[in-house]
Amino acid sequence: MQIFLDTAEIREIAPRADQIDGITTNPSLIARSGASMSERIGEIARTVPGPVSAEVIATDLEGMLDEGRRLHAIADNVIIKLPLTMAGLQAARVFGKEDIPTNVTLCFSLNQALMAARAGATFVSPFVGRVEDAGGDGIGLLKAIRDVYDQFGFETAILAASLRNQAHVEAAALAGCDAATVPVKIFDRMIRHSQTDSGLDAFMADWAAGGLDRSV
Ligand code: E4P
Repeated sequence: MQIFLDTAEIREIAPRADQIDGITTNPSLIARSGASMSERIGEIARTVPGPVSAEVIATDLEGMLDEGRRLHAIADNVIIKLPLTMAGLQAARVFGKEDIPTNVTLCFSLNQALMAARAGATFVSPFVGRVEDAGGDGIGLLKAIRDVYDQFGFETAILAASLRNQAHVEAAALAGCDAATVPVKIFDRMIRHSQTDSGLDAFMADWAAGGLDRSV
């Protein structure tokens, strides 16, 4: 499963760039960064070679197409994030014909995921945490999308989004998602484990007590 970082902060991306497969952003994250959309997306695309999702602000088809083409022109690895609306699905079909990759976002149901795949989306982003916030089964949604995509041979990649903890990431992997996007806090917790830390401390203490030469 590919791991993307869900952030627009270069200071979070740069030190982890060699361990991630791509970046997702959204209008809230870009606004919080204080940078302009084109400036920040350009910086991110130069920092990470994998796909960088940049979301359109327009909600009408013509506006989405115009913004999407401008965003993709920033760099080849910029992919266009479109909301799961009628206009977003229409834009996904147009971008598909233009070989511009898309990430259809704000997916909360199996029907929506089905429509995104039918529109030829490159990625679909089901929002696990927000589904759970509303009392739904976010991980169940991932499994259902996997089942239906496999059953009908859809090639749209499932990008698990709105993940709130490490257990969500593990469940996304077990559900067979193609990718998961995580905030930096979760990314770092996926690597660290208290027993790794204490085990390493013990090894180092034992080594120091042995008084041996450090050279290998
Ligand atoms: C990613 O594409 C989404 O924008 C993000 O995962 C949303 O996460 P949130 O529900 O924690 O805001």
